[in-house]
Amino acid sequence: AFDGELVVAIDGPSGSGKTSVSRAVARRLGLAFLDTGAMYRALTWYCLDSGLDLAAATAAADEKLASDVVEAAVELPLIMGLDPEHETVEVDGQDITAVIRDPRISAAVSAVATNTAARAVLVERQRRLIEQTGRRVVAEGRDITTVVAPDATARILLTASPEARMGRRGHQLGGTQTDADLHRQVVQRDARDSTVVDFMTAAAGVTTVDSTELDFAQTVDAVIDVIRASKSNT
Ligand code: DC
Repeated sequence: AFDGELVVAIDGPSGSGKTSVSRAVARRLGLAFLDTGAMYRALTWYCLDSGLDLAAATAAADEKLASDVVEAAVELPLIMGLDPEHETVEVDGQDITAVIRDPRISAAVSAVATNTAARAVLVERQRRLIEQTGRRVVAEGRDITTVVAPDATARILLTASPEARMGRRGHQLGGTQTDADLHRQVVQRDARDSTVVDFMTAAAGVTTVDSTELDFAQTVDAVIDVIRASKSNT
């Protein structure tokens, strides 16, 4: 049922579980896995490494900084490893797979993700990567169903209640942060990011999977059910 071209687009807010669910779906179906958030994180890492002050209080209004970010996006020497068993993110020959999860990257990434010209550059790269997989891929992010691959075989919005999202994100970070900190980080980041892409409501033709009451295995099964139904409609 799952052979041939199969592009699965999955969007959702942070803490919805979309990265781990998408990876598991890719494994089950023998597809490549593209974590586009990792590309925004890689660009953020590269900007910081190049000395751009993304954290400056004036960053949002700084036109020079904004154009430097676009320039960085264009030259970004990024290699994404799309094997769901072994994801890798490499910039300029350095393996940055782990460091792009650091809080300093999470805190700065919105400055990159809200730069519409930089987004356009990354979106083009994401479309090329999807083609390079032979269109056999699960691609996950915030704008895959709407901008990167609106022609995907299956388009899913993975949601969960704010409480469930906060709980999962806290667990990911090892429970070292207070609830108030987490709430601030997750809610504020989603609020900033959703000024440029709407990932809280499903676009036409996109199926919502709400994982609030589901465990991990049930969520993966629910997503695969949507893919099966979408595939039989093509
Ligand atoms: O999913 P994540 O937390 O790794 O995403 C990192 C950041 O990149 C987050 O601030 C949202 C942004 N992002 C985006 O704007 N568009 C995407 N397709 C993927 C991620």
